[in-house]
Amino acid sequence: MPVTYDCVVPWGRSFDEYVRMFGLTEHDLTRKILGCGDGPASFNKTMRERGNSVVSIDPIYQFSAAQIRERIDATYQQVMEQTRQNADKFLWTTIPSLEALGRIRMSAMLEFLDDYETGTAEGRYRFEELPSLSFADSAFDLALCSHFLFLYSDNLSEEFHREAIAEMLRVAREVRIFPILDLNANLSRYVEPMIAYFSACGFQVKILDVDYEFQRGGNKMMKLQGYV
Ligand SMILES: C[S@@+](CC[C@H](N)C(=O)[O-])C[C@H]1O[C@@H](n2cnc3c(N)ncnc32)[C@H](O)[C@@H]1O
Repeated sequence: MPVTYDCVVPWGRSFDEYVRMFGLTEHDLTRKILGCGDGPASFNKTMRERGNSVVSIDPIYQFSAAQIRERIDATYQQVMEQTRQNADKFLWTTIPSLEALGRIRMSAMLEFLDDYETGTAEGRYRFEELPSLSFADSAFDLALCSHFLFLYSDNLSEEFHREAIAEMLRVAREVRIFPILDLNANLSRYVEPMIAYFSACGFQVKILDVDYEFQRGGNKMMKLQGYV
């Protein structure tokens, strides 16, 4: 049965998963990072604890911690059930079972909720949404986008992908997007058009292997940067 989430759901990954999904080196972690669509991930919280710098943007940051918690609780069983029905699309090695997945995701989301008010006051969680951001040109070294672009190819248009990636390239010198698969673990139909479009605009676009695979075949990220 194909995976068909009604809309983009809050579902948060951990610092360790971000490091592996995006192939982040110790040097990368010291750069000024923008997380686009970070939602209830705990990457920002752990980065803060390590003394590093991340600003996360997401439309869910217009809501209070209690409201986000409510939305997580309302969608958690739905996501778990969809994952159970589509278990063959995932690789159950690092995350060995559905129960482990639930524990890991919920633990990351609780970490996020614990940090949310402080982080908002510190300007680390900002209510903004792609494809239009308020930041100055090249305000960041690196913009990351995990489990939003490409994944929701059935909900987001090609034009949205083009505008969102162009906006991330405006505010950051380098952009990394993971995964490049859609919800059904097929290569997103927008990958080739984005490679063609941004290459023609003069950017270097690479598809790189990373040390993270949960969706079967999903161990690749897209990296875009200007030529120096
Ligand atoms: C599946 S979650 C992924 C969360 C996190 N990046 C991770 O990998 O753990 C997708 C996120 O995209 C966010 N989102 C939806 N529309 C967006 C937009 N226009 N711009 C930025 N983020 C958006 C959702 O609110 C949600 O938090």
